[in-house]
Amino acid sequence: MQIAQLKEKFVEIFGEGEARVFIGPARVNLIGEHIDYNGGNVFPCAISLRSACVARKRDDKIIRLASTSYPHIVTAEIDKLEEYKNLEWGNYQLGVAYCLMQDGHEICGMDMLFDETVPHASGLSSSAAIEMAMGMATAALSGFEVDGVRMAQIGQMAENNYVGMNCGIMDQFASRMGKKGSAILLNCGTLEYEYAPFNLEEKGLRLIIMNTKKPRSLITSAYNTRRAECEEALRELQEGCDCEFICDLTPEMFEELARLITKPTNVKRALHCVMENQRTKDAIAALNAGDIEAFGSLMVESHVSLRDLYEVSGIELDTMVEAALKQEGVLGARMTGAGFGGCALAIVKEECVDKFIENVGKEYNEKIGYVAEFYIAEIADGAGELVD
Ligand code: GLA
Repeated sequence: MQIAQLKEKFVEIFGEGEARVFIGPARVNLIGEHIDYNGGNVFPCAISLRSACVARKRDDKIIRLASTSYPHIVTAEIDKLEEYKNLEWGNYQLGVAYCLMQDGHEICGMDMLFDETVPHASGLSSSAAIEMAMGMATAALSGFEVDGVRMAQIGQMAENNYVGMNCGIMDQFASRMGKKGSAILLNCGTLEYEYAPFNLEEKGLRLIIMNTKKPRSLITSAYNTRRAECEEALRELQEGCDCEFICDLTPEMFEELARLITKPTNVKRALHCVMENQRTKDAIAALNAGDIEAFGSLMVESHVSLRDLYEVSGIELDTMVEAALKQEGVLGARMTGAGFGGCALAIVKEECVDKFIENVGKEYNEKIGYVAEFYIAEIADGAGELVD
């Protein structure tokens, strides 16, 4: 929904008066997948698909949440926020409010209307988008400030401890800290980060997001299982070396230490992490050298590893990426985000984009039966208030 329309809708639901608008962007991850919770380097950026929150302060201790995609209004008491963990909708928002309070902030009552242009359950992190819009709105209306990195951590805490998704920091970090025209090289072990210009347009290229439209279910449990497997592998690796995270190991170190991991599945998971971390570093070096072709090849290697070693892609993502790689003018393609369906990315020459979308869409539909959606990614700024 357009922002002007959204403001009208807010007035319809909550009555006349001033309201403020806060945006939380979705994200894509260019490379560095499933290693944020293993202390690895990731390379995401915020995109213009977003969650928007129109919000107004209330004088009592009540939060009311409405949505353009959910038919009911959720009413929550600020003093009982730990009680709403199992809501059908609204738990991401209330989780953020709860974690901000746990972090020592006093929050005010609020009326809020949420709207998303980022497709739900598409792997573009609609949840982080909602969390960051909520966090920014809550801080602004309540009259306190939260450091950007801390706000990302609050969002992650809400997912881990309130929603029950044991995610890493990447999505919230990208949504909060994103910068137009740049991707973020984030070391998830230290939280050190730097921006790297990612202007494909200048090179006559486009970043295409390809949505498999696969209905995702049970993703939280599959994701949490991967994370547990990595933790198990790490504990065994630590018997042979002094490392804090799997991604502290270089490929050479891992080769020597892999024998410590007892389960073959866990060896594959850890190998993916170590190599994916290396690939991310190589991809940044390629980018710095202006070698997008090499960057694209590393994206493909990343996909293969997520398919064969980490086993999170699936027939839909694999078919989409295979179809993409057959097309003219394609420099690289891979799944992005948690996987198990969701979206893939491709870097495509501008003049080939229309044909690319047509051909990939057709082949995917013939083989899988779903109608794929395509978006041209626009790299956007991180979360904040929309001031007109
Ligand atoms: C999800 C999680 C992130 C990250 C990715 C995979 O998006 O929320 O923390 O682990 O999966 O890279």
